[in-house]
Amino acid sequence: MSTTDRIRLGEMRAELNPYAPGAGLRPPELVGRQPEVDAFDLLVARSRRGQTSRSLVLHGLRGVGKTVLLNQFRAQADSAGWLVVDVEGQTSDSGQQTTRRRLAREIALAARRLHRGRALTSAVRDALATVKAFSVQFGGMGFSVDVEASVGRADTGVIEIDLEELVEDLAPALREQQRVLALFVDELQDLEPALLAALISVQHRAGQREWPFVVVGAGLPSVPGALTTAKSYAERLFDYREIGSLPSGAAADALVLPAQRSGVTFDPDALDTIVDAAGGYPYFLQTYGSAAWDLAADKRITRADADGAIERGNAELDSGFFPGRWASATPAERQYLVAMSDDPEGESSTGEVASRLGVPAKATSQARQALIGKGIVFAPQRGRIAYTVPHMRAFVRRQADLDLVD
Ligand SMILES: Nc1ncnc2c1ncn2[C@@H]1O[C@H](COP(=O)(O)OP(=O)(O)OP(=O)(O)O)[C@@H](O)[C@H]1O
Ligand SMILES: [Mg+2]
Repeated sequence: MSTTDRIRLGEMRAELNPYAPGAGLRPPELVGRQPEVDAFDLLVARSRRGQTSRSLVLHGLRGVGKTVLLNQFRAQADSAGWLVVDVEGQTSDSGQQTTRRRLAREIALAARRLHRGRALTSAVRDALATVKAFSVQFGGMGFSVDVEASVGRADTGVIEIDLEELVEDLAPALREQQRVLALFVDELQDLEPALLAALISVQHRAGQREWPFVVVGAGLPSVPGALTTAKSYAERLFDYREIGSLPSGAAADALVLPAQRSGVTFDPDALDTIVDAAGGYPYFLQTYGSAAWDLAADKRITRADADGAIERGNAELDSGFFPGRWASATPAERQYLVAMSDDPEGESSTGEVASRLGVPAKATSQARQALIGKGIVFAPQRGRIAYTVPHMRAFVRRQADLDLVD
């Protein structure tokens, strides 16, 4: 084979690479999540009959596929004709402002579905008037539909009150058209407390009054606790689903099925090697799968390709997936992360971490809180602490070794 042929073959192969390593990127095969997809389908089907059910909240470590699944739900809702709105929690003050604004704008945009290609009924007119008031209040924008903003509805500037009035006034129009307003909220742990409390309380009220409104959420393992802290009844309000690593059969499918479509196969030991190294974590499966595809000399992925793929994949993870979180940590916070890494992957005792650092537990609470705020660690229970990122322990140890060399 000439060099040009080889380059062309390489390009073609790269072009056909089916794997999708990256935040929120839809995988070529959404494996192991059928129970959640079915649960959301049921929610949609029940709403069609005017029945309400508990909405879903996904929680889990970084890179397990929460955003992908949330997007899948959104697509299901969208094709059922729902009004869908997407927002994401952000920690900074400006981020919180942006989230409110985005919420209002997206609601205004989604509400257009109520009158597009239809006669304006009085229910729709009333709904749009309140949407307009809400969007002027929080979105800082007008509203293209020719209705007057309602006065005295959704215009107090207090998010909890205004959101409730908005949903109440939208309900008749939504019912008329058999639609539901659905707010999809990613990174729930970073949502500002007032907005989080408002969403929970309006969801609660919607259940009692049969308003067609659902909040569907996703976030870190701390999310169920954070929701309950915001409003104690939140515990019973949602169907909490832990999204985790995939069992080995599903993990193998995530690699094999996309390759199969292009006539590419994995040798059994190559497959086992990658599935083992990934520990069933979707982000790692996509990263290693992608590298293996690029390394393979022909339509067969061998053990040697798999070994090379893990090495190349780890180098990519070390320059992309992990370091963002490490870089945002201060020296004291890094010391804390390193002290945690003496434990096997999983949880650490905060008391033991402190004693490894040679200080009383209280002295570490600032670093610990800051790391929680940055979404790098979470407290699975009182006195315990864990990384939010799978395989973070090994990365931290590699990093600590590098820092010693420097
Ligand atoms: N069910 C799945 N099967 C195979 N791969 C998946 C699956 N779900 C997600 N992935 C892949 O995993 C990676 C991470 O997905 P995603 O961004 O949704 O994770 P996440 O849980 O939202 O992470 P984070 O907490 O960092 O936001 C992506 O590359 C995606 O393609
Ligand atoms: Mg995500």
